[in-house]
Amino acid sequence: MKSTTQQFLKDTGAQVPIVCGPMYPGSNPELIAAVSDAGGFGVVQPVALTSLYGHDFREGLQLIKKLTDKPFGVNFTIFGGANKKYHEQMKKWMEISIEEGVKFFLTSLGKPHAIVKIAKQHDIKVYHDVPNKKVALAMRDAGVDGLNCINWRGGGQTGIQSAEQFIEELHDIGIPLVCAGGIGNAGDFQKVLDMGYAGVQMGTRFLATKECIITDSYKQAIVDSTEEDIVWTNKIAGNNSSVIKTKDIMRGGLRTGTIISYMLKKRKLKKYARMYLMSRGLKNYSKTAFDDNVQFWQAGKGVGNIKSVESVADVVKEFAAVNV
Ligand SMILES: Cc1cc2nc3c(=O)[nH]c(=O)nc-3n(C[C@H](O)[C@H](O)[C@H](O)COP(=O)(O)O)c2cc1C
Repeated sequence: MKSTTQQFLKDTGAQVPIVCGPMYPGSNPELIAAVSDAGGFGVVQPVALTSLYGHDFREGLQLIKKLTDKPFGVNFTIFGGANKKYHEQMKKWMEISIEEGVKFFLTSLGKPHAIVKIAKQHDIKVYHDVPNKKVALAMRDAGVDGLNCINWRGGGQTGIQSAEQFIEELHDIGIPLVCAGGIGNAGDFQKVLDMGYAGVQMGTRFLATKECIITDSYKQAIVDSTEEDIVWTNKIAGNNSSVIKTKDIMRGGLRTGTIISYMLKKRKLKKYARMYLMSRGLKNYSKTAFDDNVQFWQAGKGVGNIKSVESVADVVKEFAAVNV
């Protein structure tokens, strides 16, 4: 086993180097617990846990702890430009996570320096989502323990470069690199481990499991789709998100209209445009958890290798058979 994989397993407490990434929708506590319990590592998406799946944050974490005695992580989307209320809420969630004994934070979209400082005081590991080499080096220097390399094949807000390019540019960075994007089956997993990744983070594969709370039609669409059915839209978050091409997605086109597109190009207006899109997106995307007729389905290019809806235990078992 590579030393970075050993480090990644030590940092997470998992037995198999696979993470179920935070998802809105998708990150219901039962899914997170099932992934950790099977030997992988589940990460909580706080907004999904509370607003979408209706749990009080602390009670949601306690439910996961009741379902498994294995460790799990919590995601914090930093969002420098967000309002004070958002930051206070995130701080509160972080305090509760620490009190409930969480030992792994996954941070994204912003500067994690303050979080790293708090984490170190509590012996918590921090991994951060990165889109490219420049951000990766800055985050390593900020003291994060590992990097989630978000590539362009991933579901949800997608990356801008390939899994291969990350490895080429970062192979000697000295902390574990996790491949996030486009992993559909054990063959894909083997391929990126052979490239040099310490492990993988998956979203789409875990959406198509029995434990995930999204609609059956969404799960079936993942099984039925090919890579070519995945398109990019900037209407969810201002940057590209990977989604399945459905009539709901195609209605009105894949790109934002003139005013929002203008705002997205202006440094001072961009955050308002993104906040507007995301708050609207949350409404549409929350419906995909419960309403079979709403087809705003985020998914990555790994769909081509996802052939059935399975139990989490069976998915983890398939991946555990790979020689890490
Ligand atoms: C439906 C969906 C929702 C997602 N929501 C979030 C999110 O709220 N926060 C986040 O950091 N990543 C989110 N992601 C990204 C995943 O955590 C993960 O990095 C990504 O799904 C990996 O690519 P894959 O889907 O090809 O496996 C989402 C992905 C999907 C498919």
